[in-house]
Amino acid sequence: MLLGAGRIGLGLAALGRPGYITLGHARDLTGDYEPGAMEDHAHSVLDAAYAAGVRYFDAARSYGRAEDFLASWLASRRIAPGSVFVASKWGYTYTAGWRVDADRHEVKDHSLATLARQFAETTTRLGAYLSLYQIHSATLESGVLGDDAVIDELVRLKATGLRVGLTLTGASQSDVLRRALEITRDGDRVFDAVQATWNLLERGAGSALEDAHAAGLSVVVKEVLANGRLTARNADPAYARRLALLREEAARLDTTVDALSLTAALAQPWADVALSGAATPEQIASNLRAAEVEWSAETEAALEALTMESGAYWAERSTLPWN
Ligand SMILES: NC(=O)c1ccc[n+]([C@@H]2O[C@H](COP(=O)([O-])OP(=O)(O)OC[C@H]3O[C@@H](n4cnc5c(N)ncnc54)[C@H](OP(=O)(O)O)[C@@H]3O)[C@@H](O)[C@H]2O)c1
Repeated sequence: MLLGAGRIGLGLAALGRPGYITLGHARDLTGDYEPGAMEDHAHSVLDAAYAAGVRYFDAARSYGRAEDFLASWLASRRIAPGSVFVASKWGYTYTAGWRVDADRHEVKDHSLATLARQFAETTTRLGAYLSLYQIHSATLESGVLGDDAVIDELVRLKATGLRVGLTLTGASQSDVLRRALEITRDGDRVFDAVQATWNLLERGAGSALEDAHAAGLSVVVKEVLANGRLTARNADPAYARRLALLREEAARLDTTVDALSLTAALAQPWADVALSGAATPEQIASNLRAAEVEWSAETEAALEALTMESGAYWAERSTLPWN
C-alpha cells in the first residue's frame, strides 16, 4: 500500500512559541526567539511543506503566535481560502509570555466563556480559512462533553458551515472518544473530527479511532513521532532496542526512521490525516518521505515489539521538559 503526501498535515505546536516539549526544540530554533525571526522560520517550514503538497495545517490558540504566523503566511503567499484545510483549537490559553522557562506554559479552561473569547481571537486571525475548530485536549474530568451550553454553541458554529472536533490526550483517549461519539443534537452526531495520539509506542486508542472512522468522523493522528522519541535524535538508552529495530527496518526500506514512523500512522485503515510536527525544513523533507514508503505485513511484524504499555507511555510524556 503506497500512501500520498496529501494525507500528511503540518502541526504548528513547535513553530509558534519559544518553548515546547519535543526533544530538541531549543536546538531547532537555534536560540533565536525574536518574534520576527520565529515568524520567518515558521514560514520557511510552511513553504517547504506546501511545495511538497501538504495542504492540512493544524494550530491552536495556545501555540503562542502560531495562528498569527499561519495567517501572515497564507496572506503573503496569496493562498486562497478553500485551497487549504486549516484546523485550530480552543480551550488552553497561552501563558508563557514568550519564555522557555515559564512556570506555566498554558492554562486549560473548557468553559463557554473561553470558547466565545478564543473563537473570536481565532477568526480575527484565520477568518475564512478556518475549516475545523477543536476542543483542545477534551477529557472527562474537564466536564466539557457534559456542558450543554458549550455543546449547543458548537452546534451553532456548525450551522455556519464550520466543522467541529475534539483532540485527545492521555491514557483515557478511548473513553473520551466513545463518550464524544454519543453526543447528538436533533438526532445528528455533534463531532465531525477527532485528533488523537497514535504511534508505534502507544497504540491504545486504535480501536476507538476505528469506531470513530466507521461512524463518519475524520480521524487525524498526532504525535506520530512520540514528540521526537521515534527519531534518530533519541539517544536515551532505554529506547536503544526499539530504535535499533526501527533503524534496521528503515534501512531495509531505504527510508528514514521518522518517515517510517509516520507511515505507520498513515497505514492505519481508519487514519485520514497524520500530522508532521516538523520544526525545520529539513525535518519536513525527511518526514514527507513517508509518502514513498510501502507498508507491508512484514514491516508491521518487524515493528510490533516497539509497543509500550499506555500508562507508562503517558507517564513519560508528562515528564518531557519544555525546552
Ligand atoms: N492535545 C493536542 O491537541 C495536541 C498535542 C500534541 C500535538 N498536537 C498536534 O500534533 C502536532 C505534532 O505533535 P508533536 O510535534 O508534539 O509530536 P511529533 O509529531 O511526534 O514530534 C515532532 C517532533 O519530532 C522531531 N522530529 C521530526 N522530524 C525529525 C527528524 N527528521 N529528525 C529528528 N527529529 C525530528 C522534532 O522535534 P525535535 O527536533 O524538537 O526533537 C519535531 O518537532 C503538533 O504540531 C500539533 O499540531 C496536538
